[in-house]
Amino acid sequence: MRRVVEMHDLKKSYTPGKLAVNDVSLSIHEGESLGLVGESGCGKSTLARCLLGVETIDGGSIIFNGDPLANASRKDFRNYRRNVQTVFQNPTASLNPKMRIKDSLLDPYLQFQHELQLGHFHFSSKQAFVQQLLETVELPKELGDRFPHELSGGQKQRVTIARAISIEPKLIVLDEPTASLDVLSQGAILKLLASLQETLGMSYLFISHDLAAVYQLCQRIAVMKDGELLDLFDKEDIYDNQRHNYTKELIGIF
Ligand SMILES: Nc1ncnc2c1ncn2[C@@H]1O[C@H](COP(=O)(O)OP(=O)(O)O)[C@@H](O)[C@H]1O
Ligand SMILES: [Mg+2]
Repeated sequence: MRRVVEMHDLKKSYTPGKLAVNDVSLSIHEGESLGLVGESGCGKSTLARCLLGVETIDGGSIIFNGDPLANASRKDFRNYRRNVQTVFQNPTASLNPKMRIKDSLLDPYLQFQHELQLGHFHFSSKQAFVQQLLETVELPKELGDRFPHELSGGQKQRVTIARAISIEPKLIVLDEPTASLDVLSQGAILKLLASLQETLGMSYLFISHDLAAVYQLCQRIAVMKDGELLDLFDKEDIYDNQRHNYTKELIGIF
């Protein structure tokens, strides 16, 4: 199985003597959806931010394309940033309130256009590209001219997903992408994510405190508690007796 990115013995601390991420080793396979589950405060978002390179790490390494990120040249790091996109919990905070949806959608493409070779999307004109993105995330065409406050939460999250996939990354880190949405929109977004993955073939690191959501979307599941990775298994093995006791506890409440 080819690995998109590997984390080895990752450590991150905000306060001396307390590790928010404690020696976590985890790889994300090409084309898979890996779920990362655990209670609030266990270190999921910290792990995500370390992986995205927006947080420095205090130990361990992140390997992309066979090389540690720490040694990456500016050009390699830029390539990494293009290939590892993200979708956060709160789409309102992720979208510039003063930008029309179409301009937000075009932003990543315009940033990376000179080094991009798109396989699925085609850029013939800005308008056509925006239309293609809106269609892919099942949003009406006319939304492109609107501002974020004129969209529902679910629609805004579709826009941030469209933006993330627009430059065809290898991996999308989704940090609680449905947590701010109502139940109906949550289900719809999970379905959309599954179908996008089938069409585009990228990997997901899907982070959630909700084991049911992770179970619905992911092929493998990682369980964190107090900064540590306690369990990692194929979804089919969730009811296996060798699951960690903490995983069994989580299953008990889902
Ligand atoms: N920027 C920060 N400064 C200090 N402590 C932080 C910061 N971000 C997170 N933490 C702490 O690190 C731990 C892990 O937090 P976080 O990664 O946000 O957990 P999760 O995403 O699983 O809810 C928590 O104890 C949290 O309070
Ligand atoms: Mg979090």
